[in-house]
Amino acid sequence: MTRPRKLYVKSYGCQMNVYDSHRMADTLAPEGFVETGTPEDADLVILNTCHIRENATEKVYSELGRLREMKDAAAQEGRKVTVAVAGCVAQAEGKEIIRRAPTVDLVVGPQSYHHLPEMLARAEQGKAIETEFPIETKFDKLAPPSRATVKKRGVSSFVTVQEGCDKFCTFCVVPYTRGMETSRPVEKIAEEVARLADAGVREITLIGQNVNAYHGEGKDGRDWTLGMLLHRLAEIPGVARLRYTTSHPRDMDDSLIAAHRDLAALMPQLHLPVQSGSDRILDAMNRNHTRADFLRLINRLRAAQPKLAFTSDFIVGFPGETEEDFQDTRRLVAEVGFSAAYTFKYSPRPGTPAADMEQQVAEDDKNARLQWLQCDIDRLQADFLAKSRGTTMDVLFEKPGQRAGQIVGRSPYLNSVHVMAPHSLIGEIRPVAITDVGTNTLFGTLVHPHAAEPMLAEA
Ligand code: 5AD
Ligand code: SF4
Repeated sequence: MTRPRKLYVKSYGCQMNVYDSHRMADTLAPEGFVETGTPEDADLVILNTCHIRENATEKVYSELGRLREMKDAAAQEGRKVTVAVAGCVAQAEGKEIIRRAPTVDLVVGPQSYHHLPEMLARAEQGKAIETEFPIETKFDKLAPPSRATVKKRGVSSFVTVQEGCDKFCTFCVVPYTRGMETSRPVEKIAEEVARLADAGVREITLIGQNVNAYHGEGKDGRDWTLGMLLHRLAEIPGVARLRYTTSHPRDMDDSLIAAHRDLAALMPQLHLPVQSGSDRILDAMNRNHTRADFLRLINRLRAAQPKLAFTSDFIVGFPGETEEDFQDTRRLVAEVGFSAAYTFKYSPRPGTPAADMEQQVAEDDKNARLQWLQCDIDRLQADFLAKSRGTTMDVLFEKPGQRAGQIVGRSPYLNSVHVMAPHSLIGEIRPVAITDVGTNTLFGTLVHPHAAEPMLAEA
């Protein structure tokens, strides 16, 4: 029998890369690849890369430098290591990667990784590169994970439902690296979710670059909205929690807003990137909505589901952003009262319109604005967490905690909650009384510590 080959996959960037990395491992499992936690003993190393900002891309090249040394050392011992670059840097830079880093054997874009097994065979003879957008969908070709693999990955899982983006925000590489907006058919997604739920997954996060632009084919042959898809998935036994990310404000349609009112399984937390609070900058970014449109949308969502908490993404220092524009962003943050947010300095990306705009903002100004905004957001996040003290919330327990006898789970708002409770509760949802608040985490006690039966608090 041949020795099982070891696979190490390192994922950079967004949640879709985490999902894709899992699916690459699933597809290579029938070829005899077993996952390992370190690159040192791996026969195949895959870097699943991110191109969204310059520093994300640079990280890949420095990792490739380290891998070259490792690969050379292994070769001295007579062991061959294959190095693959996947993901958005692969898509954007293609052959250029091999020119810059000859240690790379294989380059595969995000729409082609179902070809990995035969690409590996080709890489034996020379370099293998695939960065096309093949007609067939990779989802029909990928091997599903085994039940044991699903169990190992935990009680919460991502599922891609939509990919690509047609919005062309002027700062963003995604439309070029992930291609046109496409949606998977409803029943294919339902099959994948049912298989995960059957293996113990309780929380499903639907992912897509523009997930709320979802328009996959339903059983009736028509295009279904994300709201309709969520209703279908909530019927699947075992699915206790649903989430979706990342959304564009322009695609929040009535059915999705209503789903927040009607679906108990849909968690009351919504990531809705707005990027800027200035109309001038929103326009230059080609976001196609105004600050007032965004505020109206938040109000409609809050009217449908008063428990909703909002998180967002912001870019500071977009070309032409003045101090006044930046203050508009700070005012928007205060007005909405986000529960958390990611803040980024604008990073010019090759091939995007904003990279060629005049009035690029000085690095010092970008740094200062980032600090101000981060400070505002940290304060809002602390206020949001502080408000949970003394309340009771449902927690989905995910894993053992660091302290003996402790387990850790997630609140409906995705905050970690630490509780002293038996490991047998992992995978269960239980009401927890919040007693203490840390910087990023909550601490609490079980409301029914002696309840023996699973209590499907949210079902
Ligand atoms: N520079 C800085 N941030 C960016 N993002 C996307 N492109 C850029 C860029 N060129 C941010 C946006 C997006 C998040 C995923 O990354 O805020 O919502
Ligand atoms: Fe990029 Fe999102 Fe804009 Fe699409 S909608 S171009 S993924 S920022």
